[in-house]
Formats: sequence, structure tokens, C-alpha cells
Amino acid sequence: AERKRMKLTIVGTGYVGLVTGACLAEVGNEVLCLDVDASKVADLRAGIMPIHEPGLEALVSRNQQAGRLRFTTDVDEAVAYATLQMIAVGTPPGENGAADLQHVVAAARQIGRRMADYKIIVDKSTVPVGTADKVGEAIAEELAGRGVQLPYAVVSNPEFLKEGAAVEDFMRPDRIVVGSDDERATQWLRALYQPFQRSHERLVLMDVRSAELTKYAANAMLATRISFMNEMANLAEALQADIEQVRRGIGADPRIGYQFLYPGVGYGGSCFPKDVRALRRTAEAHGVQLRVLEAVEAANDAQKHKLVIKLVQRLGASLRGRCIALWGLAFKPDTDDMREAPSLTVIDGLLDRGARVSAYDPTASKAARKLLGERIHYAASPMAALEGADALLIATEWKEFRSPDFDAIKRTLKRPLIIDGRNLYDPAYLRELGFVYDAIGR
Ligand code: UGA
Repeated sequence: AERKRMKLTIVGTGYVGLVTGACLAEVGNEVLCLDVDASKVADLRAGIMPIHEPGLEALVSRNQQAGRLRFTTDVDEAVAYATLQMIAVGTPPGENGAADLQHVVAAARQIGRRMADYKIIVDKSTVPVGTADKVGEAIAEELAGRGVQLPYAVVSNPEFLKEGAAVEDFMRPDRIVVGSDDERATQWLRALYQPFQRSHERLVLMDVRSAELTKYAANAMLATRISFMNEMANLAEALQADIEQVRRGIGADPRIGYQFLYPGVGYGGSCFPKDVRALRRTAEAHGVQLRVLEAVEAANDAQKHKLVIKLVQRLGASLRGRCIALWGLAFKPDTDDMREAPSLTVIDGLLDRGARVSAYDPTASKAARKLLGERIHYAASPMAALEGADALLIATEWKEFRSPDFDAIKRTLKRPLIIDGRNLYDPAYLRELGFVYDAIGR
């Protein structure tokens, strides 16, 4: 049967909202994106993207031109526009790490104040278990305040996008989690996601609370793998084993798998650190101990200091008078995102010990400058960062760092010292070239 075009409103044009809106328009739906930030809306209408995400700009402009994707600041219009109202506003960490839900609840209230018929409110933001209930209560309160009775359902539909691959992840999802306790809403969501069902069923239907927990459980599991591998790497160093060989050896077991087993400088970004903390707070609030996640977080905090510890082992505790080159600022490649980037811990450690820092990142210098100002030097190229430097530290595995001109590096650095937080190079080869090369777990 031919699928009918659907209309939907998305509240919030941040990472999740914008990608979701553009991708749902791309498969033929009519999408209206609402944001309180008028300058952001003006930019989006002009095709200027607020974030750096491969493929997004083309998708937004194509669908805007086709009239399927629109941006507005008009709340009345947005609420009236569609039965489906997706909430994709931010949930910044609030008091002691618990997610701050004020924007989510405010979005729900503005729907409740204006709705005139059946609405399906879809929580797309990463929100703690129990949020759908709060959203439902907020709407019920607004309706009661207006003295009207209208039907509505609240659905949880968490997003599993990776920065740098968000469009691809949305268009080719490995699963679509929908938590719904309302049959009519379930049918709407099923129809909405029908174009993304490929060779097999992608929709994983469940109850609302389980869907809310699924999002956190997924990120917490991934964070756990990373901290586990970082600790194994530290052990491998002490035992003179090579974590890269161990990684291949364990990844071959399909129960373990190869992905997300890379040791490094610790996980960062806008999701893992925040979600691990928020899940711990949720568990505490319910009197449940999450011993594993406690350790995951502690191991990650420690890992972010690894590069500087290794440098100090080579150069001594005081770095006064030293200049240290740093390749990579973003928390991972293909993004300009500096949120909770491990490079920030590295930079703090270097500056605290009196070093000057000369950093290069292909895209994140602007974002880094907003946080760090002129406390570090921002080099225009990888090689320029090395001029006058005593050592090179690597914090992000950008492709352009993978096969550099090692002769030029050796000529430019004051001493041939590389401390690699991402295991980019072959240790035997670098030692052959005359480098002192320290990596993670090998
Ligand atoms: C993460 C999840 O991977 C997504 O599935 C999820 O949807 C998203 O959070 C979210 O909750 O919105 P993201 O934060 O964009 O996505 O980045 P990842 O690629 O997962 O990397 C997170 C951090 O882990 C990075 O600092 C990365 O360097 C680190 N990492 C990742 C490792 O240290 N080792 C690995 O093997 C993999």
C-alpha cells in the first residue's frame, strides 16, 4: 500500500531535532521545526547550519526547496500544524548530574495550552525514566487549567545518532525504539518509520519506561566497554603486552565483537559522560546501586590524565619553559564538538605544569577558542603546531593524522617524542625512525 505523507512538528532544532527533521522530510513527510532562537531559525532558513554534520546541509536545503521542511518561531502555528509533536529540546546536566527537564516540560506545556484535538507527544530528547509521565502530567494540568478534555498520548522514541554520522545513522538505523502505551499512537509511529524498515524489522516496540531506560542502558554499556578497554590497556603496559593484539583477539568472539573496543584518552562528548552520570543519579534516587557504572566513570576520569602522566615520565614533573604540540581538540573526529573533550583535561594538565600549548584541529579550533580563549596557541596546520615544540601529543584520531610526514615531524620537533592517545602508529616502525613513541596499552 502506498504510504501517506505525514505531517509533524519538531520542537528544538539542536543536533537531534534538526537531523530528525531533515531526514523525515527527505522520505516525503512535511516537517515544521520550531525553535525559540530567532537568529538560528533565520540562519536555517538561509541554509546556514548551526552544527557541522556530514550531509546535513544538502539535506536541509533540498527539502526546504521542496517545501517539505520549514522552520518557525511561531508556537501557535507549530502546535496547530500536526498531530505528531516531537520534543527534541536540550536536557543539560542540572544539579548533581541529573538531567534538567525544564525545556522538555516547557515544550509539553505549550502544547497543552494550545492543542485543540488529539496529539501524540514524542519524547526524542534523552530523558530520564519517568519523564514521559511528567510530560503527560504537564499536559493534563494545562488542559485542566483550560477546563477542556482532549485525548493525547506520550511516546518515548529515543535517538541513537552518532555525531559525525548522524544523517547516515538516521537513514539506515539498526533499530528504532518506540515506547508506547497507546495503540493509536503506536500505529502512527509505525507508519512514520515505515520508510526506514529495510531488509528486516527495525522497529522495537516496548512500553514507555523500558524505551526511556533503553537509551541510557545503550550508552552506559558502550561507555563501560571503553573504560574496560582503557583499564586493560593500562594493565597491558605493566605486563608488556600489546592491547591492540588483545583487542583483535577478543573482538573475534561474536559475543564481544570488534566495535567500541578502542582504548584511548577516555570517552567524551555530549552523551556518554552526561548519560552515565544521569543514570547513576536515577539509580540513587531509586535506592539501587550501580557499582559497575561508578567504576566506569572513575576509570574514565583517570584515563583523561594519561597523556600528561606519560609526558611527565619522559620530561619530568615541571614543564616550565616547554612547548607542547597537541593534535586534536574535538572529542572525536569529524565533529567540531568540544563538549567534555578529553583534550581539555590534557590542556589543563599541561598549563598547570607551566607548559605552553600549540594545538591543531581541523575543525574545532573555533569552538575551543570559545572555551579556552588565548590560553593556548591555535596552529593553522599540523606541522605549524610542531614548531618549537618539545613533544607531540595526540588526542583525536583525525584521518589527516594517520600517515604524516614523519621525517618532517622529526626535523621540526625539538626532540623526537610522540605520545599518542589514539594508537595511530606502529610502535616498531616509529622506533625504527628514531622516535620515542608512547601509545596506550602497548
Ligand atoms: C554516542 C553513541 O555512540 C550514540 O549511539 C548515541 O546515540 C549518542 O552517543 C547519543 O546518546 O546521542 P557520540 O557521543 O556522538 O555517540 O560519539 P561516539 O562515537 O560514541 O564516541 C563517544 C566517545 O567514546 C568519544 O570520546 C570516543 O573517542 C570514545 N570512544 C569510542 C573510545 O574511546 N573508544 C571506542 O572504541 C569508541
